[in-house]
Order: sequence, then structure tokens, then C-alpha cells
Amino acid sequence: MKPVIEEAVIGLLNLKPTDVPSSMVIADLGCSNGPNALALVTTAVDALLHRFARQHNQAPLELRLLLNDLPDNDFNDVAKRLVLFQQSTQSSGVVLTGGIVPGSFYKRLFPSNSLDLVLSSNSLHWVSEAPEDLKSDRIPLYDDDEGLRRARRHLVIQAYSRQFSKDFTLFLSLRAQELVPGGRMVISIAGSRAYQCGTLWDIVNVPLNDMASRQSLVSREMLDCFYVPLYAPSDLELRKIIQDEGSFEINKMQLHEMELSLIAPNTIAYAFRAVFEPMIVQHFGLSGDVMDEFVRTLEQHLVQGSPQLTYLLGDTVSVCISLTRF
Ligand SMILES: C[S@@+](CC[C@H](N)C(=O)[O-])C[C@H]1O[C@@H](n2cnc3c(N)ncnc32)[C@H](O)[C@@H]1O
Repeated sequence: MKPVIEEAVIGLLNLKPTDVPSSMVIADLGCSNGPNALALVTTAVDALLHRFARQHNQAPLELRLLLNDLPDNDFNDVAKRLVLFQQSTQSSGVVLTGGIVPGSFYKRLFPSNSLDLVLSSNSLHWVSEAPEDLKSDRIPLYDDDEGLRRARRHLVIQAYSRQFSKDFTLFLSLRAQELVPGGRMVISIAGSRAYQCGTLWDIVNVPLNDMASRQSLVSREMLDCFYVPLYAPSDLELRKIIQDEGSFEINKMQLHEMELSLIAPNTIAYAFRAVFEPMIVQHFGLSGDVMDEFVRTLEQHLVQGSPQLTYLLGDTVSVCISLTRF
């Protein structure tokens, strides 16, 4: 995302070429915690400092960095990193203030017309909830019976695609209210090459289904009502949603290979454990030992070249989008 964020920053500085901007507000939505929490805002600030010092080195610039995630996020960690970053920029002559904004990005988070730049990476493929119609019609995400699974796949994907479209449309319209006209948004999201095919949940359901069939470690009944709130849209779906919503011009949409097939199966299995463990443990009430078995089972499927997972790894891309608010 780095060059795309840099372009967006330059675009913002050029918005009114004769004016010296005195302040800028930058938000990262779904910042998480740990080393990545400030990665996006740091990239934007570095780009600003680089351009600003060269063009208008006499004027003070005030930057406000706002970091958002769900309320359970470790915001103490984020706050400490923010203070360290503030200290590291002290000698640059910029006034840098920060704020933490807990809450769902599917709700209003900021005042109207208050943001210049919105950033978000690897977060928007999480939908607000699994599709209600699948739950009420008791259609499992992953039928054990292959025939049934194939027959229902289209239905399941359609339901998730609709849910994603509803959530992403809402996200765009909320951010359009919060951004200033001409404001920028740069996001990255897990996507699929193929149209309406974002079955990223298979990576979890294939091993869980195996565990339910082989042992009683995972209950079949619980698996049938386990809906992962995740959808990886294609660039075509994203483009259509953005155009239909109508608040943003698309400057750029890039597809990047995830190169998952080049990563060792064991590393992939641990990475997916890290992402999905809280959700799996909460739903199935499983222990750490069972999660060890989850890693072993997923690794085995990856090593054996399970057709579903091989397809999935090849189909998954990271989509980077740069938008300007009309
Ligand atoms: C995979 S992490 C990405 C973290 C970081 N942006 C990065 O790229 O490394 C996804 C983050 O999105 C957050 N998230 C998911 N749904 C969200 C929502 N509705 N509102 C705010 N944050 C959300 C999660 O809590 C999680 O911290």
C-alpha cells in the first residue's frame, strides 16, 4: 500500500496548490495492535513530512492521527506506540496529536467533514455478521456431504456476497460523510480473482470438517452452525459497489498476489490459527490441545494438496484501492 498512500498524500497536498495546509486528520480503521498498528499512519506521516519540508518548510503542520478498532482491541498497546511515534517526530517541527476511537467501522465514528485521509488494511473482508438467511434456513457453510455442498455452494456464496455488498456500501456512505470533499481513502482487502467466489472460510472449515468426521473433537452439530463472518470479494464486485454507492471516484485498484502457495504449509496453518483461534474457541468451546490438532490437520491438507485449499490459495489476492471523495 505504501506507494498508493504516498500518492494519496501528494494528492491531498495538491488539493489547493496555493494554500499551505495547516492541519490534516488521518484515520486508520481496523488498526489492531502490535507492530502493525501504526504502520499505515506512519507511512502517511513520513510521506507528508518528506513533501511538506521540501515545499513549505516555513509553515507549521498539525497532524491528528486517529486509530480505530473494535472495543476488545488492546488499545493500551496502541496508545504506547502512539506516544513513542510522537516522540520520534518531535524534532520534525510538526505538531502530532493522536486519538483512539473504539467501535465498529460499520457505524459513524467521526464528526462530519472531519477527516482528510482514511486508511484501512486487511480488515474490510470481515463483514458485520454472517448472512441471516443462511442461519435461519439452517444452511451450513460447509456440508460434509460433497454433493450437497456443491449443490448449495452458489446459495452460500450469493448470501455472503449480498452481505458484503450491504456492509461495504454502508462503510462507504459513512466514510463519505466523515471525509472532507476531495478527501482520500486507501484500503487493502483480501479478495478473490474469480467473480463471486470469496470462500476464504474453507481454510478453516476443511480442517474442522475433517476433525468432526475423524474424531469427536469437534461436534458436527456445532460445525453446521459455524458461520465465519468473512468474504473475499473480486475486484469486479468492489468496483460495482463503489460505483453504485456513488460517493467516491476510483483512482486505482490493484491486485497483488498473496503468494500463499510459496509459504510453508506449517507457517500458513499457524497464521490461520492466530487469526481464527478466538472465534473457533468461543464457538466450539475448544481447548488449546484441540487447536494444536487444528494446526496439524490444516497442515496435512495443505501438504497433501487438497484441491479446495489449493484452489483457494491460488485464487486469493490482496486488493488495494485508492479513492477520492467527490
Ligand atoms: C487482520 S487485522 C488487520 C490489522 C492491521 N490493519 C494490519 O493490516 O495488520 C483485522 C482487524 O480488523 C478489526 N475489525 C474487524 N471488524 C471490524 C469492525 N467492524 N470495526 C473495526 N475494526 C474491525 C479486527 O479487530 C482486527 O484488529
